[in-house]
Amino acid sequence: MVNGNRMLYTILGFASCVAFIYMSLGDLKLSSFPREPRLSFVERNGTQFFLDGKPLYVNGWNSYWLMAHSVDENSRPRVSAMLQAGAKMGLTVCRTWAFNDGGYDALQISPGQFDERVFKALDYVIAEARQHGIRLLLSLVNNLQAYGGKTQYVKWAWQEGVGLSSSNDSFFFDPSIRKYFKNYVLTVLTRKNTITGIEYRNDPTIFAWELINEPRCMSDPSGDTLQDWLEEMTAFIKSIDKNHLLTVGLEGFYGPKSPKKSTVNPEVWASTLGSDFIRNSNISNVDFTSVHIYPDHWFHVLGFEEKQNYVYKWVRSHIEDCDKELKKPVMFTEYGLSNQNKDFQASQREQFYRSILDIIYKSARKKGSGAGALIWQFFVEGMEDYNDDFGLVPWESPSIYKLTVEQSCRLARIQGLIQENENLKVMCSKTE
Ligand SMILES: *[C@@H]1O[C@H](CO)[C@@H](O)[C@H](O)[C@H]1NC(C)=O
Ligand SMILES: *[C@@H]1O[C@H](CO)[C@@H](O)[C@H](O)[C@H]1NC(C)=O
Ligand SMILES: *[C@@H]1O[C@H](CO)[C@@H](O)[C@H](O)[C@H]1NC(C)=O
Repeated sequence: MVNGNRMLYTILGFASCVAFIYMSLGDLKLSSFPREPRLSFVERNGTQFFLDGKPLYVNGWNSYWLMAHSVDENSRPRVSAMLQAGAKMGLTVCRTWAFNDGGYDALQISPGQFDERVFKALDYVIAEARQHGIRLLLSLVNNLQAYGGKTQYVKWAWQEGVGLSSSNDSFFFDPSIRKYFKNYVLTVLTRKNTITGIEYRNDPTIFAWELINEPRCMSDPSGDTLQDWLEEMTAFIKSIDKNHLLTVGLEGFYGPKSPKKSTVNPEVWASTLGSDFIRNSNISNVDFTSVHIYPDHWFHVLGFEEKQNYVYKWVRSHIEDCDKELKKPVMFTEYGLSNQNKDFQASQREQFYRSILDIIYKSARKKGSGAGALIWQFFVEGMEDYNDDFGLVPWESPSIYKLTVEQSCRLARIQGLIQENENLKVMCSKTE
């Protein structure tokens, strides 16, 4: 009997060993991508983001060019260099374009026609972000003309003889164009990454979707046209993907339906753009709100100190809206100071960034809705063509680099993340 049992165990042991090897090989066959620790989706509850059950506060940046530079093998190393540098500064989220409509190296060549070469470049961006522990805030279309935007969609509708209007705002109300855009969204969200084998909608590397960069619909200042489009598109995205958080991509201006807040707008024009921070962000399928900070674009005569004072008011007002009324987190998804201002000095950038980061930190310490901020914008050496008057190479600006690391560390500290992360332990021991 004893021998018999031993024999049975030996056979069982051998069989489970074979099964194990078989399953491992099965995994390898499915994907040659190395197995990584389990990654969770970012969630939200009330005014806070959560990751693995703990509140999450974000220090991050914008590099809109990641897909564009991944298309060509020669420029692809810039993408990993940027993501690696971000991780080294303790940054956790990068916002980037998941669109390029018409034009050079377009992802969407014409409505519903995609360039597989460019889609593979986006696959690469996502796979590479995962490798570096960075999550991506992916924007799905531009209100502005760069990389196609709503103007390109309107042009397509004209070319196909279905366009209702030549106004670029017909992007929001033309039923054919809405179909084009929904088809685009469906294709991107259900794309199966050729490197990781994971559908985008199932990939926790994606922090959230951003519907549209800086939407404005000036042809309808009542705001009804944009609101209607946002309600339809946010519901459409949630019908495909319930895993990811969703934001609009607003600049943050208050519209005519928020008269109490109109004094916070930079000037009267800001309430005539067809957008409204409160109304647009209150849509139930919008998980968190987004705000941009560009006093240089919004004021022409103010000096640095006055702009700085305005920024305090602007940022605090939006955090207050989200704490008290909207009950959602707020991300300042772009902030920048132009180096083209007449009174510009390099030290102002540090001061400007610091004032924003301080407010986020204070809000986070109180478990408030100020959930994070993303610098506009970082790039790497040798790509000055992609700069504007807001960009910088972080390691060429020691004071900004230091400030960025400090923010990453103090946010990591209140999240209790330092002890469990070697990179943070080493990096943050110098900032205590
Ligand atoms: C969200 O937070 C509330 C209040 O803290 C808590 O009661 C609730 O269980 C949380 N919900 C989830 C899904 O975690
Ligand atoms: C929209 O069209 C107008 C006029 O055709 C043009 O001046 C404007 O730059 C366009 N705006 C965008 C965001 O494409
Ligand atoms: C948001 O929408 C809800 C209904 O969905 C409404 O009760 C509430 O008053 C709105 N909040 C704001 C700040 O407009």
